[in-house]
Amino acid sequence: MSQPLTDRHNRVHRSLRISIVDKCDLRCTYCMPEDQHFLKREELMTREEVTTIARLFVERYGVSKIRLTGGEPLVRPDAVDIVRDMAQLGVSLGLTTNALSLHKHLDGLNDAGLKSINISLDTFDAERFRKITRRDGFDTVHANIMLALQRGLRVKVNMVVMRGLNDDELLRFVELTRDHDIHVRFIEFMPFAGNHWGRERVYTYAEMLGHIGSVHSFEKLTDDPHSTAKAYRVPDWKGTFAVISTVTEPFCGNCDRLRITAEGKMRNCLFAREETDLLSALRRGEDIAPLIEANVLGKHAMLGGLPQFKPEKQEEVLHDLSARPMVSIGG
Ligand code: 5AD
Ligand code: SF4
Repeated sequence: MSQPLTDRHNRVHRSLRISIVDKCDLRCTYCMPEDQHFLKREELMTREEVTTIARLFVERYGVSKIRLTGGEPLVRPDAVDIVRDMAQLGVSLGLTTNALSLHKHLDGLNDAGLKSINISLDTFDAERFRKITRRDGFDTVHANIMLALQRGLRVKVNMVVMRGLNDDELLRFVELTRDHDIHVRFIEFMPFAGNHWGRERVYTYAEMLGHIGSVHSFEKLTDDPHSTAKAYRVPDWKGTFAVISTVTEPFCGNCDRLRITAEGKMRNCLFAREETDLLSALRRGEDIAPLIEANVLGKHAMLGGLPQFKPEKQEEVLHDLSARPMVSIGG
C-alpha cells in the first residue's frame, strides 16, 4: 500500500518533475542567465539513480505522473533510456523539450513508450526565435512539432508570452489549433533568477483572453482538478488552447507537484527557496524517505512563500527569489 505524500495544507502530491540535465542547446532569455554555469557530469544523477528515486516516489508514495525535463532532456545521451525506465514504472509519462533535436529521437521515444510531449515555442518568426533563444532553429522546431503529431504523440506547445516581444502572435498560435490536434498553452512570464522579469513585461491572462476574444469566439473546457492550465476551444477546431496564469491568478490551492533537479535536489515548488539533497544521502547509502517526507511537509501554501506577483510587490519578489534560474529547476 502506498502512503500518499500530504503537505501541511492537506494537498496530496502525485506528480513529479525530474530534471535529468541542466544544459540546453538553446539559451532562452527568460530561462537561462547569460553567465550560466553547468553541472559536471559526476554531479548529475545517473540513469540508475533517477530510476531508484523515481521508483520510491511511485511505489511508496503513489506518485502516478512523471514528467522529464531539463535544461533540455534530449541533450543527455541516455535520455531515451531514462524515458524507457520511467515508462516501465507504469506512470503517466511526459517529456518537456525544445524539440531542436527531436527528429533524431522520435523513433527511440516511441519505442520507449512515450505518448505525450510538451514542446516550447514562443514565436513563428525565425528572427525573433533567434532573439529569444539566442540560437537559430525555428524551422527545425516547427518541422519537429508536425513530425511529433504525425507519429501520434499528444502534443502540447508552450508559449511564454512577454509584453512587447511576442504578445502580437497569440492569434497565430490559436490558429494552429484549427486543423491540428495541438494543445497550445500560453504561459504568463514568470520571475526567476537572472531572467530580467518585471511585472510590466507580463502579458496577463485577462489580456490574452481579451485579445483572442476580439477575433474568435471560444468556449471554456472542463479542467482536470490539478491542472495548472485553464483550457478553451474555438468551437469545431481540432485542438485547444489554455492559459497558465501563475502571475495574475496563481493556482497553488490544488497543486500536486514536486520536483527533483538534475543533481538530485528535491524542491516542493517551482519558487521554493529551500531544497533537500536526496542524491548525496542516496550515495552515502542512507534512507531518503524521511528527507522526502520532511521536504513535502515544508511546502508553503502559495508560490513557495513569495508574496503574490502584484506590481506593488515587485521589488520584494525580485529580492526574495530563489537563486536558481529556471534552466536548472526544470519546467
Ligand atoms: N516564465 C514562464 N514559463 C517559463 N518557462 C521557462 N521559463 C519560464 C518563465 N520565466 C517554460 C518554458 C518551457 C518550460 C520548460 O518552462 O516555456 O516550456
Ligand atoms: Fe532551454 Fe527550455 Fe530553457 Fe529554452 S526554456 S533555455 S529550451 S530549458
